[in-house]
Amino acid sequence: MEQMRIKLDFNNMLAEYVGNDGITIAEVDRLAGKIKAANQAMMQKREKMQWRDLPHNQADVVEEILAYANEIRPKIKALVVFGIGGSALGPIAVQQAIHSPYYNLSEKYRNGNPQLFVADNIDPATISHLLELVDLKDTLFSVVSKSGSTSETMAQFMIIKDILERKLGKDTARKHIVCTTDRENGNLIKIAKEEGYKTFYIPSGVGGRFSQLCPVGLLPAAICGIDIKKMLEGAAYMNELTRNDNIWQNPAYIYAILHYIAMKKGKNISVMMPYADSLKYISDWYAQLWAESLGKKYDNNGNVVNVGQTPVKALGVTDQHSQVQLYMEGPFDKIMVFVGVDDFPRDVPIPKSFEDIPSVGFLGGHSLAELLLAEQAATEYALQQSGRMNMTITLPEVNEHTIGQILYMLEVATAYAGELLNIDAFDQPGVEAGKDATYAYFGRPGYDAKRAEMEAQPKKNPKYII
Ligand code: PA5
Repeated sequence: MEQMRIKLDFNNMLAEYVGNDGITIAEVDRLAGKIKAANQAMMQKREKMQWRDLPHNQADVVEEILAYANEIRPKIKALVVFGIGGSALGPIAVQQAIHSPYYNLSEKYRNGNPQLFVADNIDPATISHLLELVDLKDTLFSVVSKSGSTSETMAQFMIIKDILERKLGKDTARKHIVCTTDRENGNLIKIAKEEGYKTFYIPSGVGGRFSQLCPVGLLPAAICGIDIKKMLEGAAYMNELTRNDNIWQNPAYIYAILHYIAMKKGKNISVMMPYADSLKYISDWYAQLWAESLGKKYDNNGNVVNVGQTPVKALGVTDQHSQVQLYMEGPFDKIMVFVGVDDFPRDVPIPKSFEDIPSVGFLGGHSLAELLLAEQAATEYALQQSGRMNMTITLPEVNEHTIGQILYMLEVATAYAGELLNIDAFDQPGVEAGKDATYAYFGRPGYDAKRAEMEAQPKKNPKYII
């Protein structure tokens, strides 16, 4: 297990290494009271942190998922997930991490597993292309919504239900739909029961963005042949590591504490930059987790605080040629989190050639993995030299175990940062406000007052639309 342990290197967050702009040990020590309170809250706040139990309490659920996955896999060529936010970003991140980047393009990378399409957006062109691309007869549509009322997901569900029933008949259509939702609340569970759809459940204390390790993420992963037991084992391992009250030995706690102090020092931006294509979408998933959990107007005492830190997604080495100039020399308003990999599953040697042109020939005899690792180390070094705080999470290799670890670590870090900020990391009133406005625009019953309020707003001045 120790061999597969992910590592957090935070040397370059410290003043000792990056100079004046960095964090001192004394600054961390000064937070002792806050840290103690946060440690206690992490142990006591069980209701909204049921996601912490997911690595341990799902033996039956996992067996049910695996049984269903094994039964459905031979019958389908494609799995389409309809869901958004927390219902989509985790499945995308895990799929990209574990499988070949060309999984969907060729059977040789799929080993008999179905193609996976996660349709989170409702761009009509994309959805219509997708429905044209897949063969309904060979496709399973997985509808995922915790609330069972998200307009985007419910609209997609209505569209596909109608098409399936018209083309395949009601009885067959039923077998092409699976739902993942709350066991009791919301419209989707009501509909699923009435229609007789196979259904998996999102536990009540598991919010959307903390749901990757419940059926939301486990079901599509299992259907696509990903070892979900190993992923949960990785999360369970990280659960042990993140129960340590000693912040210097707890990767999630120290991650959050250093981010918290950085925020207090005006670092309003946090850039996550994986150095592996397989991890590119981990930063997408993380961006939602960090932004939606910590970006809050009120603290727990009702004071207006307007806190949060803007997550930015970057990719090494690609963005060295795009964003890194800004990170190196621009304003001191951000911190960087690199995510690296020790061992790539494949490597490509660079042949020795052009030895008569030393400025090209030096590349020969090495490999692409060596070049990428060198570039990552060089970027970290250059940032440190220019006094920019950065830290690095390293995965010994990308597999289900390490992915389970990093997801879980970042979830705990986010919850802990919420405690330090004294805000509710588990609600999303800003998202709900947008959802309510959509309902009002679209004439959902019960939203007349909201619609009237919106109509009473000053009209746009055509003068400013040019
Ligand atoms: O993290 C969250 O709670 C949100 O991002 C939700 O996942 C997203 O809004 C989708 O909600 P639902 O699962 O209820 O359809």
